[in-house]
Amino acid sequence: MNGRSVNRVTVSNYLNDDFSARIADDVRRGLSRTPKAIPSKYFYDSRGSRLFDRICELPEYYPTRTEIGILRDRARSIMSFFEKRPGLLVEIGSGSDVKIRQLLERIDPAWLRHIRYVPMDISADCVIGGARRLLADFQGLSVEGIIADFTCHLEQIPPGRKMIVFLGGTFGNFTPAEGNDLLMRLAATMGAEDRLLIGLDMVKDRPIIEAAYNDRAGVTAAFNLNILNHINQRLDANFDMNLFEHHAFFNPNEERIEMHLRARDTFTVQIAGLAMASFFRRNETIRTEISQKFSRQSAHARFRKAGLEAVAWHTDAQDWFSLVELAKKRFAHVGSAAHAAWTQKTSVYPEKREAPA
Ligand SMILES: C[S@@+](CC[C@H](N)C(=O)[O-])C[C@H]1O[C@@H](n2cnc3c(N)ncnc32)[C@H](O)[C@@H]1O
Repeated sequence: MNGRSVNRVTVSNYLNDDFSARIADDVRRGLSRTPKAIPSKYFYDSRGSRLFDRICELPEYYPTRTEIGILRDRARSIMSFFEKRPGLLVEIGSGSDVKIRQLLERIDPAWLRHIRYVPMDISADCVIGGARRLLADFQGLSVEGIIADFTCHLEQIPPGRKMIVFLGGTFGNFTPAEGNDLLMRLAATMGAEDRLLIGLDMVKDRPIIEAAYNDRAGVTAAFNLNILNHINQRLDANFDMNLFEHHAFFNPNEERIEMHLRARDTFTVQIAGLAMASFFRRNETIRTEISQKFSRQSAHARFRKAGLEAVAWHTDAQDWFSLVELAKKRFAHVGSAAHAAWTQKTSVYPEKREAPA
């Protein structure tokens, strides 16, 4: 691990040799299975992170602006966690600092000295760049940046009272089994008072969802293809991006977007770093991302499985996106009479967006 300290900031990097071995394993396994698949976390080299930021500004990409609207409206209520007592504001998959700003800009500046912001991202550029910008703009805030993979480095979250935020629908990039495992591991890091604020993109009309992943400017296509560029660099492979095309569609049975790269021809790719070759038939695809869309019912079922429950549900006027505040369940035996009585008394699930604080 490399650590460095500058004023109110520390940045630690946990993406060491083990991580290089993990990329190699993931790509070898992903290209050996049928159908082929590569985990979406490998989109995010420097160029991938920049392309994602451009996606967030596209007219078709409704999730970012919808979620930002909710964060703006509900910031004071969400951040009241830090009103009287200090704590950690941990953001996993933090990306750019645009969303966390919505929370920090709308609170009493006096609360800032109660907050230690802990961004954790696989992209070093995001963690370091975000930390610099936030420190310049928010006096009193301190930052503990962690360059790491949240699927295997959650134990690097510092101890203490905390609110974990997991924004942007990244939770939807996991299959139900992977997502449940991640939620359970997040729950295991939480104490009784801690909160997890999770973003969920909700099921809506298919054309609206599909347009968000098939923008007219072709930025999502460039983002998708860039995963091959990243693998070429990391594993000395010779993927030719011109031989693949972007293919994204809504799968109604699974209620999710699937993003693929489809071979335009029949060819073989050499991956020198893995000492392997991968054969592609014309029209064969590599699945590069899924993006699960949720209903309240499906989301509650996921939370229950992980021993978590919603204590507040924030949404927009159209119910397109949700930000859910989760706490650990008070009672171990879910479904018991005591648990039912307690949740009836305390659960808050407004049907529509509450008035701005
Ligand atoms: C879809 S983007 C969302 C970014 C930001 N949270 C937002 O809402 O706009 C996913 C972010 O999570 C990061 N990421 C993806 N998988 C990760 C992993 N396994 N560990 C750490 N960061 C990851 C990416 O680098 C990227 O910044």
